[in-house]
Formats: sequence, structure tokens, C-alpha cells
Amino acid sequence: MNTSFRAHFPALDRQLEGRPIVYLDGPAGTQVPNAVIHAISDYYKRSNANTHGFFAASMETDAIMETTREKVASFLGADGGHTISFGPNMTTLNFSLSKAIGRTLQPGDEILITQLDHEANRGPWLSLRAEGIVVKEIRLQSDGTLDYEGFAKLINDRTRLVAMGYASNIFGTINNVALARELTNEVGAWLLLDAVHYAPHFPIDVRAVGCDFLLCSAYKFYGPHIGLLYTKTGLLDRLQPDRLRTTYQHAPFSIETGTLNHAAIAGVKAAIEFIEQIGTGTSERARLLNAMQLIHQHEIEMAKRLFYGLKNLPGVQIAGPDIGEPERAPTLAIMVDGKFPQEVCKYLAAENIYSWGGHFYAIRATEVSGIWARQGVCRLGISAYTIPTEVDQTIEAFRRLTKHQ
Ligand SMILES: Cc1ncc(COP(=O)(O)O)c(C=O)c1O
Repeated sequence: MNTSFRAHFPALDRQLEGRPIVYLDGPAGTQVPNAVIHAISDYYKRSNANTHGFFAASMETDAIMETTREKVASFLGADGGHTISFGPNMTTLNFSLSKAIGRTLQPGDEILITQLDHEANRGPWLSLRAEGIVVKEIRLQSDGTLDYEGFAKLINDRTRLVAMGYASNIFGTINNVALARELTNEVGAWLLLDAVHYAPHFPIDVRAVGCDFLLCSAYKFYGPHIGLLYTKTGLLDRLQPDRLRTTYQHAPFSIETGTLNHAAIAGVKAAIEFIEQIGTGTSERARLLNAMQLIHQHEIEMAKRLFYGLKNLPGVQIAGPDIGEPERAPTLAIMVDGKFPQEVCKYLAAENIYSWGGHFYAIRATEVSGIWARQGVCRLGISAYTIPTEVDQTIEAFRRLTKHQ
């Protein structure tokens, strides 16, 4: 991505002590372009109101909500806005969903989760154990991938749901969701995908994957802090989410509670339009697909540069799948001999390089892989705005850090 692309992001201009900042903290939330900032402030300047009123600002708010649902549907390859629900974040939506799905289950029914997932896609399902639901884990293997043979053995006629990540927010692993769909279809179970880490890096096509539910968060793809839920047409209306008698009882509204963050929802639309203008094509969907392919190509190139630059430094290890894997998110889990990840992150922060250290809520993955004993990893995340000089600066910083190893 070139200089004109980066010029969209005011945060990239920020300097600390006269030096620019390198943002490798994207997996915890990306920076936002001017278009998103303006959409949010324009909402407050012009259209700030509650929904379903008879005056202009309220009608504008209704229109923003409706058009954003359509945009998100286009971004995810869904049937239409009626399949898209908003929430404060992915975690809250998933808890609401787990409660609603729990109401359709009988004690002894089974749910499969994975050892690789973020707790936001484990905790809500584990909470159903209190209702007599059997929750089993698909094992994480030492190479950062899931044990699919074990998965095939675990799934059975009592399995009602498989809740799986699309991409790992710690190792960058892409899970085999096609196989998950095949296996869930065989036993008639629902497939739910946590696409929070996948959505910023790859095109999504919910119809092609055939998943029943998919969740993501706009703040990971250049938007504001909003959670998004896709539910296959008709499915949400078969569930009973917690809701007031005064709210709409049908999809996509039935799982939404209270007054939503309208300004941020305006920002979600702007974020997807921002992505769309990166691509070319004759339809909105074609432009979005092309844009996500271009983003992926750029990001994986940067990730390879970083991976190979760090790989041979003394005392540096990179956990998770090899960068040569055909499909991998551009997120690297770094371990430096003799240093806790938090020390590495502090060192990088002093160099104006932003990163995160720890488990990033994928705590189970760090426990079963033994990484938690060393307090996790230092996570370096590539975003669409990452450029080669930033990657090289990061490699140099690691070279200085490890030169006495
Ligand atoms: C893979 C993954 N799933 C779920 C979440 C939770 O998302 P939210 O903050 O929107 O609840 C995150 C956040 O980091 C994540 O990376």
C-alpha cells in the first residue's frame, strides 16, 4: 500500500519524540481512516437522534442503520441486511447467542469448541455446562493447527453446534472451516464461526462457507468498536434471545438490546466503503472481494518479510504455522529467549513500535501449548497500512535486542 493510502489514516502521522509510530497492534484494533472519523462526527453534527421518529434526524438514523446492515451483508457475502445484527462487541453478541441457543438444547446435548479460540468463543459456550450441556474441546496441536482427526471423532449425533474460530488471533492459523461444515452437516449441527481475526485479512463469503452464524468486530477492520453478527436467513427467528416485549421480536433486531451506538454504526458503513474503494470491479461485492484480495496480498508479503527477518535472529522463535502455508493470517507470535513478552513489548514501545504481549484472550491455546509458562508471546500484527520500512525497522529493533544472545 502506497503513501496515498497511508494518508487516509491521521494516526499514522503522529510522532512521539520526533519519531513516527509503527503500529503492529492491529490484531487488538486497527487505526481508522478519515472517512470513518468524518462519518462518526457527521452523524453527531447532523443526524443524532433515536430511531423510528417522524423527524429528519431520526429518519436519517433509520436509513444509516438500514444501509449499514446492507453494507455489512455485502462485505460478508450474505443474503441481505436482514441477516446482520449489531451489538456492542463480539463477546456480548456471542453471550446473547449462547443463551438463546442454550434454550433450544436438552441436557446431554453437545457443543464443540476449540482449544485455539479466543475466550469470547469459548466462555459463552462453556457457560452452558451449568444447563447440563456437554461442551468438548477440539485439540490444538503443537504446530498451531487443530486436530481434525480428533474433531471427526468427537462430533456425533448429540452435537448441536460447533463454535470455531476462522483465524487464530495469536498464531495466525486459518482453520479448516470447509471440513467443519462437512462434519457438522453430517450430524445436522450448526456451525458458528468467530471471524474477528479473519475479517481484516481475507474476503468472507458466508454463503460459500455455508456457516449458520458468523461474528466479527468492525474495530479490527478500520472501523469503530461495534460487534457484528451474521445469522443465516430464518435462523434467528427460531431462537429466543433475551429481549424486551417492546423491541422488535424478529431478525435481525431480536438479539439487539437497547439503543445502539448509531454514530459508530455510521462509521462501520464508512469503514466498509473505505475498503471497497481500494478494489476494482463492476459491483460493490466485486470491489470488496478485490480489495480484500489486494489487502491480503500486501499483508502476507509484509508478514513474510518480517517472518524471515526475525526467524534467524539468535534466541528468536516464532510459534504457529510456517509463513509458507498457503493460507495464514499476517500475525506473528514471537518468543525471545530469556525475556518475557511484556519486556519485549516495553522495549519495542520505547522504539515507538506498538505491539502486545501475553495470551490475547486465547489463553487456552497458550496453556495447552506450554507458552503460558513464559507468559505468552509478543504479537506482531501486519495491517493494510504496514510498509516495508516499518517491517525493517522492527527487524532492526529485534536485532539490537538479541545481539548479546
Ligand atoms: C479472534 C477474536 N475473537 C473475539 C474477540 C472479541 O471481540 P470483541 O472485542 O469485539 O468482543 C477478539 C478480540 O480481540 C478476537 O481477536
